[in-house]
Amino acid sequence: MIINKSHPLKGSITIPGDKSISHRAIMLGALAKGRTEVNNFLMGDDCLSTISCFKKLGISIDVDIVKQKVIIQGEGLDGLKCPDSILDVGNSGTTIRLLSGILCGQSFPSTITGDSSIQKRPMGRIIDPLVMMGADIRSIANNDCAPLQINSTCTLKTNNTSIQRDYQIDDTGKLKGIHYHSPVASAQVKSCVLLAGLYADGETQVTEPALSRNHTELMLSEFGAKISRFENTIRLEPRPFLTARNINIPGDISSAAYFIVAALIIPNSELLIKNVGINPTRDGILKVCHMMGADITLENIKYNGGEQSADILIRHSNLKGIEISGKIIPTLIDEIPIIAVLSCFAEGKTIIRDAEELKVKESNRIEEIVRNLSNMGADIIATDDGMIINGGRPLHGTVIDSKMDHRIAMAFTIAAMASHGSTTILNPECVNISYPYFYDVAKTVSDRYS
Ligand code: S3P
Repeated sequence: MIINKSHPLKGSITIPGDKSISHRAIMLGALAKGRTEVNNFLMGDDCLSTISCFKKLGISIDVDIVKQKVIIQGEGLDGLKCPDSILDVGNSGTTIRLLSGILCGQSFPSTITGDSSIQKRPMGRIIDPLVMMGADIRSIANNDCAPLQINSTCTLKTNNTSIQRDYQIDDTGKLKGIHYHSPVASAQVKSCVLLAGLYADGETQVTEPALSRNHTELMLSEFGAKISRFENTIRLEPRPFLTARNINIPGDISSAAYFIVAALIIPNSELLIKNVGINPTRDGILKVCHMMGADITLENIKYNGGEQSADILIRHSNLKGIEISGKIIPTLIDEIPIIAVLSCFAEGKTIIRDAEELKVKESNRIEEIVRNLSNMGADIIATDDGMIINGGRPLHGTVIDSKMDHRIAMAFTIAAMASHGSTTILNPECVNISYPYFYDVAKTVSDRYS
């Protein structure tokens, strides 16, 4: 993909549905009893992987790609069926970590894996708490990575091996409620333990060092589970009766972030982004923009199913560097590649700390951000847990290898739109993981002015 310097961004756009909420809608829709209709579902590769896994688990799911609508016929907590092949999550960390929690509570065996990036990402962080709950889960290569084998020791109820789906109820899938103190502020870890906790014999609690995104908690509560939060601790009662309900998914703030930043750094831009999720556990990007002095207004604020959304009006702004660290980090973790780009256009120093989690995302994002921004002419250095950027140096075009990391491809498309010369993005198609048609939207908002 070749990207040249952009015209000012003008007009209004909508953003595809939130990725985190889309995954959870399929999972809870499957575990509830009855028909769940999901509107503005994200038809990105990651969420389609979640759908394909639940189809293999015997759930009927109708997908209307054009209308971005999904209908799930939920079978209840005990309605999943033994899959007849390996569950493949593709590139999706959310799918493998959350679904593993659910699979540990089933009375049948399963094996779950994903692409080469997934097979390098840490799964010990979910294996440890699941084993504490009494789960039978192990990394096949014994390296704390996928493929993961779950309930492999469970025995067939009958000697007739052709009846594949009928397993002995021994101790398989019997989990106990625990209080897990997570060493990382990770919604994937928290959600994995909570989803396993649906099947436990007592209350499950998760305490995290800082509050991570809370979509699982909000949606579980909407579906009828008894779940509460006190400070950084979530408590869930086991075996709720989950009732199907319709879900309207707001636009993904992590996808909106690319165009928020583009409008801030490309002179004379004025862009309205409609119906974006602004859940306070996800809105760190907006707080950072405000701290930097950005001209951003929220309009038309709404609540739907516990989630908040708004229209966001962004005007090109003069920005200043800031320090970003501590408990705000989990609320903007996926936005750090584009925040690094933003910081190059802010006067002065921006320091990002406490973000070592970036090393275990779809790529080592500290390395990718620093190498690529340096190649574009930025003054940036990597630190152990983040980076330091001296903003204000003009950027120029270069060749960027996305390394198949969607957020690197999109962040550097925006950097290229605000830089001199031409940039080539290698492996650009990975944007389909979270934002199909990203390049078309970028071209449309940029061409409106010409
Ligand atoms: C996600 C949680 C975050 C985030 C990921 C989606 C989720 O990961 O980076 O893109 O949907 O729960 P961690 O929980 O590992 O921080």
